[in-house]
Amino acid sequence: MAFDPVDMDKACASAARHAAARKTPSSVTAAHRDEKLALRSALGRFATGVTVIAAETPDKHVHCMTVNSFASLSLDPPLILWTLRSRSARYHTFSKTQAFSVSVLAENQIDIARKHALPPPGGFTERSWKAFLGGCPIVEGASAHFICKGHTEVNKGDHVILIGEVVEFAEHGHSPLLFMSGKYYSASALKQL
Ligand SMILES: Cc1cc2nc3c(=O)[nH]c(=O)nc-3n(C[C@H](O)[C@H](O)[C@H](O)COP(=O)(O)O)c2cc1C
Repeated sequence: MAFDPVDMDKACASAARHAAARKTPSSVTAAHRDEKLALRSALGRFATGVTVIAAETPDKHVHCMTVNSFASLSLDPPLILWTLRSRSARYHTFSKTQAFSVSVLAENQIDIARKHALPPPGGFTERSWKAFLGGCPIVEGASAHFICKGHTEVNKGDHVILIGEVVEFAEHGHSPLLFMSGKYYSASALKQL
């Protein structure tokens, strides 16, 4: 086939236009957004439980939020961790508190999970909290509770990892609430393999 310099010029100009279009700020932003959504979707395939983390502020308000990044870290010493968005409205409470509780929600507590995932002031601050364990506010009727004292904070990316030492815990008979791909599930309906 004969080499046609005019066609080649046209092809190069067209490729350059496409490359320029790919590099415009809006298309870069859109590609980045798509990639973040894809990553979020893939991470969502990892099924977790659902917890509410709570702490009392010095002025006796209870701050809490729904969290599924909770994980066990060490048995000896007993350590757990969770991650908090560094720009969260609750960052200042949870990064300063000396003690916090983790309530592992039961499958009939989906309303509590939804309520404490609302942005402030809706789900976050409670003035008349009823249940306490080891001096910490807890969610009654949960599947398990952990009371944690002190913490280490590790800053990474857009979240901080908060590590707490478990000083008290309790396990109850209620089947836990689960979370996967943005939806809630009940553990008692699961098929054991
Ligand atoms: C199932 C579920 C799990 C969540 N897990 C976390 C988490 O691990 N860490 C976190 O910072 N926010 C988590 N969130 C979001 C918070 O509950 C809350 O919606 C959010 O912090 C509110 O906005 P803010 O970050 O600006 O305070 C979760 C929300 C839901 C519904």
